[in-house]
Amino acid sequence: MFSLPGNEAFADSLASHLGAERGEATIRSFPDGETYVRVEHEIDGRATCIVGTLDHPDGKVLPLLFLAETLRDLGATQVGLVAPYLAYMRQDKRFQPGEGITSRYFARMLSCHIDWLTTVDPHLHRYDSLNEIYDVPTRVAHAAPAIADWIAGELDAPLLVGPDSESEQWVSDIAHRADAPYIVLHKKRRGDRDVRIEVPSVDDWLDHTPVLVDDIISTANTMAESARQLQHHGLPAPLCIGVHAILTDDAADTLDQAGVSRTITCDTIPHPTNGISVVEHIAEQLPIRG
Ligand code: R5P
Repeated sequence: MFSLPGNEAFADSLASHLGAERGEATIRSFPDGETYVRVEHEIDGRATCIVGTLDHPDGKVLPLLFLAETLRDLGATQVGLVAPYLAYMRQDKRFQPGEGITSRYFARMLSCHIDWLTTVDPHLHRYDSLNEIYDVPTRVAHAAPAIADWIAGELDAPLLVGPDSESEQWVSDIAHRADAPYIVLHKKRRGDRDVRIEVPSVDDWLDHTPVLVDDIISTANTMAESARQLQHHGLPAPLCIGVHAILTDDAADTLDQAGVSRTITCDTIPHPTNGISVVEHIAEQLPIRG
């Protein structure tokens, strides 16, 4: 099991869950910005996998593809990819004339270099499954059991809240597992940083703690505007739980200013808000064993 730079701790933990051997590789940039790769392990005839989360993907993908090709060149029988966060899932249709459907192009490109892919809760909106766009076998681990355990262990009287209809798939599952009620808000996105949120009646839940749950927190405007609207309707300050902590630089301030009491994320992307581990759920979804 090899890791892309920055994924060492996650790969160590995953390898120890599986009883897999950790492989060493050097990946660095030459002074001119090109990528250098060296695998420091005997590979011939062995099954390999690469652990690399793909937030801010553009600078990570070329090192990933070069490492995959190097492993294959050195005799790997298979090269799998564990990408706890899978990038380029949101542009799944041509919203404006002339736009590229980058989810398809990205999937097609990765499929040329890896033998299988495991990820956590990919942003499936207009696709039913990753198989619609990936040409290699894919497996999906879900964060819902880990999030539900965290909520059940930490909070009294939670009210789970999905900020938009897309989030209902995660929120309903978590609510069911945590034996908690849930509501779904209505979101209208007007731009990358401009969202409007409408709240249904919450009169039955005024003594509950709202827990906003979404797959991705990026600029945090979705969470922040939801938090403002919930408080405007009489609910206490909400907690935010995100599966994937993309969190742009000003996201923490945006959440603070909206009165969010706490933000917790899963460890699919390393971030100070990480508080819920999905390693064991990924380990269950790998097609290889140590
Ligand atoms: C939407 O498609 C996703 O599920 C999230 O709601 C979205 O990515 C959050 O983005 P932001 O934090 O920038 O509002």
